[in-house]
Amino acid sequence: MRPAVLFVCLGNICRSPLAEAAFRAEAQSVGLTVEIDSAGTGGWHKGHPPDRRAIAVAGRHGVDISGLRARKVTAEDFRRFTHILALDHDNLKTLRALRPVDGAAELGLLLDFAEGLEGRAVADPYYGNEAGFEVTWREVEAAAKGLALALAHLPPPR
Ligand code: 4NP
Repeated sequence: MRPAVLFVCLGNICRSPLAEAAFRAEAQSVGLTVEIDSAGTGGWHKGHPPDRRAIAVAGRHGVDISGLRARKVTAEDFRRFTHILALDHDNLKTLRALRPVDGAAELGLLLDFAEGLEGRAVADPYYGNEAGFEVTWREVEAAAKGLALALAHLPPPR
């Protein structure tokens, strides 16, 4: 099965769109064919573009995320994606509770793929400043690199 990765945070306007962007760039650079999306466990920002500070930091790192629109995680996501990666422990807990019985997606914590940051959460930069978004970018980029390597070792598509 071809890998399909969903990144999940709370609002889907700060952290998970950045994880999606960093991983899209990384997958492309290593030639990995993978479906990529992001979603939030909360629906308050449904249909909204990413936070302007998230758009700005991604732009500074060469990725345009202004076209993304927030959405909420659905039961179908657990069947459609092979991996669903939470940006923090609270969202991982929510995902475990939402998983339908036939949802085969592997659930995990994004930073478990970032060397030296295993078990850690990507802190929510929403109530902070621009510098916080640079920290977020560095963390999701480190995880994106580790994740791309891990997935590149998957068996080829049948
Ligand atoms: P995110 O950040 O989960 O990284 O997208 C947040 C954005 C908005 C809210 C919470 C977190 N909010 O409560 O509106």
